[in-house]
Amino acid sequence: MTHSHKIHHADYAVVGSGIAGLRAAIELSEAGSVLVLAKSNLSDSATAWAQGGIAVALSDEDEIGLHEQDTINAGDGLCRAEAVALLVEEGPKYITQLIEWGTEFDRAGTKLAFTREAAHSRSRILHAHGDSTGREISRALLSRAHSIPHLHLRAHAFTTELIVDYGRVTGLRFIDETDGTLHELQAGAVLLATGGLGQIYRETTNPDVATGDGMAIAYDAGAVLSDMEFMQFHPTALAIPGAPRFLLSEALRGEGGVLRNIGLERFMKRYHEAQELAPRDVVARAIVSEMQRTQSTHVYLDMTNKSEEFLKKRFPRIHETCLSYGLDLASDLAPVCPAAHYMMGGVKTDLKGRTSLPGLYAAGETASTGVHGANRLASNSLLEGLVFGALAAQAMMKDAPAGKRKGQALPGSPAPLPGNSSASPKEAAKNGGAAKNGAAAKPASTLCATLSKIRDVMWREAGIMRNGKELAEAIKQLEAIELPKCEKSGRSGHELRNLHTLALVMTRSALAREESRGSHYRSDFPYRNDEDFAKHSALQKGKDVGFEP
Ligand code: SIN
Repeated sequence: MTHSHKIHHADYAVVGSGIAGLRAAIELSEAGSVLVLAKSNLSDSATAWAQGGIAVALSDEDEIGLHEQDTINAGDGLCRAEAVALLVEEGPKYITQLIEWGTEFDRAGTKLAFTREAAHSRSRILHAHGDSTGREISRALLSRAHSIPHLHLRAHAFTTELIVDYGRVTGLRFIDETDGTLHELQAGAVLLATGGLGQIYRETTNPDVATGDGMAIAYDAGAVLSDMEFMQFHPTALAIPGAPRFLLSEALRGEGGVLRNIGLERFMKRYHEAQELAPRDVVARAIVSEMQRTQSTHVYLDMTNKSEEFLKKRFPRIHETCLSYGLDLASDLAPVCPAAHYMMGGVKTDLKGRTSLPGLYAAGETASTGVHGANRLASNSLLEGLVFGALAAQAMMKDAPAGKRKGQALPGSPAPLPGNSSASPKEAAKNGGAAKNGAAAKPASTLCATLSKIRDVMWREAGIMRNGKELAEAIKQLEAIELPKCEKSGRSGHELRNLHTLALVMTRSALAREESRGSHYRSDFPYRNDEDFAKHSALQKGKDVGFEP
């Protein structure tokens, strides 16, 4: 495999161009040459899809200690207190810097406008262009990154594996999807910031790119994954048959939206005193119970107490998307159901993004710092990417000081740093550069059928309500799946393999956690069991699931 790779060198490699990857890359560029690899377009990330906003204790009525307590309460006994303290204490500084870098959050007059979301005791969610917060942050970070000469961004570069030398990660291999060529990048340190893995489920709010690549290649290289049983399900995805599960932000409920079952009863009062603003896992399970009880495929989100003018201004993207499906939120009830949304676990790291493998770092949704515990507080994830992206970069610079010649390939590197490629694979194919090595030898329909099978198994047997029998059955079915050979199937084959690897990691972790906590609900163990399970799960290739403090 290695003989045909073009070799490159950078001081630091970053995989992923969401908020964590870009924030880290900007920091790293202070010390040396950086190459950011993104498997799709640079702006194709869960970050750019984030609607609700970014939580930060910056308003006059808020306190860092309150944000800390809300985060810990949501985490259901499993947050790492030091990680939460870092998140909430460092958050205001990095948000202020983001504003200085040109991010335009919405304002009320000259003051920042804060909204409320579930399980927050204060209005502390910043938003941009109403419901396009992630897109605005992504724009500002990309614009800054593009202005730094020795920070190189490469789109359509799919990372296939990590290179490990005597137990240390020394680089990675990637496919250039524009022409199918194979590349090897040698780097002083590698950061994985590839986001989450929502595509492992049939119903998800995540973009197509969310296939857990960073987690899977870290696992294959021998890194420890932690807390992979904790998948957060968002309560309100648009439930229109045949349409993608478009997210209807929790901020809609924060602004007064209510949930009704198909009999139009406002049912949340029967499940939690905070009703629609109860923790996300409680709302998601309540919706599933109502759907089962009423034998329906959805419940309704009712925003009809708000004017069209308000909805258009505050939620322009959601309002417009719903209209495109013939739904006017000001007068119609929107059918909604829960969908997979966010992975609380990931590659186990310390507080500075260091994984269990020297030379390898992780940040954002790819990482498991323990900051979210068993259930992430709404709108803490963009903040996590920002803060822990910067902190991981600082650790990388400290642990692996860069060569002196900024922005250049180091001596001995046979090829220059691959630059700011943004040609799409389609354009490359038009120009005669059809993927040679990456082209799908396995028919696409076989890949699709296998992917559907994994996604169905995960949704049915390892979804919102779980039990030991079904999890064991899921493991059996997943183990029986035959995968195509990766080297012959390009990006989609690798993504499938990554999802399959992680499906097994998730189901094994979920089977081992014999209790209910946060987003992980076991009907055969319906209670939280602190004595045995107030611990983080840990899984390494070739080993059994373990639990550690
Ligand atoms: C939302 O807008 O409801 C999603 C925000 C989040 O998941 O943090």
